[in-house]
Amino acid sequence: MTLGTLVSFLQFSRSFNQPISQLSQQLNSIIMAIAGAERIFGLLDEEPEKDGGYVKLVNARYDEKGNLTEVPDRTGMWTWKHYHKADNTTTYQPMQGDVVFGHVDFGYTEDKEILHDIEIFAKPGQKVAFVGATGAGKTTITNLINRFYDVQDGKIRYDGININKIRKDDLRHSLGLVLQDTHLFTGTVMDNIRYGKLDAAEEEVIQAAKLANAHEFIMKLPDGYQTELKGSGNSLSQGQRQLMAIARVAVADPPVLILDEATSSIDTRTEKIV
Ligand SMILES: Nc1ncnc2c1ncn2[C@@H]1O[C@H](COP(=O)(O)OP(=O)(O)OP(=O)(O)O)[C@@H](O)[C@H]1O
Ligand SMILES: [Mg+2]
Repeated sequence: MTLGTLVSFLQFSRSFNQPISQLSQQLNSIIMAIAGAERIFGLLDEEPEKDGGYVKLVNARYDEKGNLTEVPDRTGMWTWKHYHKADNTTTYQPMQGDVVFGHVDFGYTEDKEILHDIEIFAKPGQKVAFVGATGAGKTTITNLINRFYDVQDGKIRYDGININKIRKDDLRHSLGLVLQDTHLFTGTVMDNIRYGKLDAAEEEVIQAAKLANAHEFIMKLPDGYQTELKGSGNSLSQGQRQLMAIARVAVADPPVLILDEATSSIDTRTEKIV
């Protein structure tokens, strides 16, 4: 073989290989794109949560005659609005926050029952605590009140109304939930607390932060309430994040408050104050 033949052989083989390797690289990105698209369309095709509830939660006020009437603005007085199809009438019932579980059975899967014949109640103004072993079903009970899952047997009543009849949106509006792990958004401390009530004035936010005992540490941040939080608030300690979550629910001021190990990272002295 002459040198000239060798050089041209190498050159030809390179120009033959190049498109093949390019093709396989592009095939790779196409396959990755298909896998991504599958997930996106999977999410788009997700069925919306079914909601057969018709009892709504509205703001109300007593008029001159002492009747409850619905008003559009926030009065701090919540009322259940029942629409009765049979005789086409609407009745109002003040919300109180009375939760009753009656003979509730529940399991995440058919074959494994987690809660069996549970009977518990919380009267308005009452504080109820669940103590139990890990995996006993404490979080499960809170998931049922929110209707993240439906009970298999028995009934949950909220102010005497079966929660299946309450619109999910309204039901969840009436419950404040603070979990062990809190999610903070990119934005200022003020905005993060305001997520509890989007139209809250600055004073309301500060008041809520004081209630949650978060005001003190917030004032020590570089820009106070205007400090920008990034990356889910990882510049704050775990406990400080939990105090923010409590402030968030305090500004919403819901009639029923559910705390699921919400103070697990807060020191005992601060926890007591909260
Ligand atoms: N999404 C789920 N799917 C299936 N099983 C679940 C699910 N969530 C919880 N479980 C099971 O339900 C049982 C009760 O769980 P739950 O989270 O209510 O316990 P817990 O009392 O809150 O415990 P902990 O004190 O650890 O928070 C556990 O045995 C758990 O394995
Ligand atoms: Mg739990």
